[in-house]
Amino acid sequence: MSTPAPISTRANVRKKVTTLALRQKKEHGEPITMLTAYDYPTALAMDQAGVDVILVGDSLAMVVLGYENTLPVTMDEMLHHSRAVARGAKSALLIGDMPFMSYQVSAEEATRNAGRFLQQGGMDAVKLEGGRERADAVRCITSAGIPVMGHIGLTPQSINQLGGFRAQGKTAIAARRLVEDALVLEEAGCFSLVLESVPARLAELISKKISIPTIGIGAGAGCDGQVLVTHDLLGLFDRFTPKFVKKYADFHHEMQRAFTDYIEDVETRRFPSQEHTVEMDDREWDALLKDID
Ligand code: KIV
Repeated sequence: MSTPAPISTRANVRKKVTTLALRQKKEHGEPITMLTAYDYPTALAMDQAGVDVILVGDSLAMVVLGYENTLPVTMDEMLHHSRAVARGAKSALLIGDMPFMSYQVSAEEATRNAGRFLQQGGMDAVKLEGGRERADAVRCITSAGIPVMGHIGLTPQSINQLGGFRAQGKTAIAARRLVEDALVLEEAGCFSLVLESVPARLAELISKKISIPTIGIGAGAGCDGQVLVTHDLLGLFDRFTPKFVKKYADFHHEMQRAFTDYIEDVETRRFPSQEHTVEMDDREWDALLKDID
């Protein structure tokens, strides 16, 4: 195996990632990387680090906007954050997550809203939650030339039906239904499928049964790729951390430390010091004093 290129050169040589490139990664057995982003600087940093896919997730509602769940976030809010991400990320495939009630009412409305992600949000594709009941919407959106990523297992927009954020597909009957859903979504035209909070061996079975790439979150190592909510990975969201998250940083406490240091510096007049201060030429200053005397 070759050594990965350093971060700076990876950014310089990267071509735009396409849905076809993800399919080829699956065929070659190369893991796909995906992360969520909601703003310009985060998208810029992860794009330069070389992530394959950036999802503007409706997790925005919880980790950025502070809601209890993902249901309140609107199309306009998703588009606002999508545009910021699109300004920062030039190479990763960009996916806009369709918010609650933007695609459930009719396939036509779903297609219109999916189109807004591409026309007004700078996204390359959309993601929506649900199994066989979404097949019509997927067909209609893809027939408009818009790539669709599916999402089954724990689908947070249905927490009221699922009884909370709990793992799915743990019985033979439930697992079979998920396998069938995956096959229906592939047939309907999805280019990829997120599998969230399902048993690892079920996710591996689904990944082998379908030819489109699966992206797992809490679904084990047998998926074709992995996704995490960036605020979990960075330790920015301290309300709770799901069991399947690996924390790569502790930015919540790092932010608190920086803010406390700033407050102390201002209160003790250590900030601003000379180096942070704009100076004025003595002659100009004297002229001013003469003027206002
Ligand atoms: O909204 C989101 O962040 C997601 C990921 C968990 C896949 O849907």
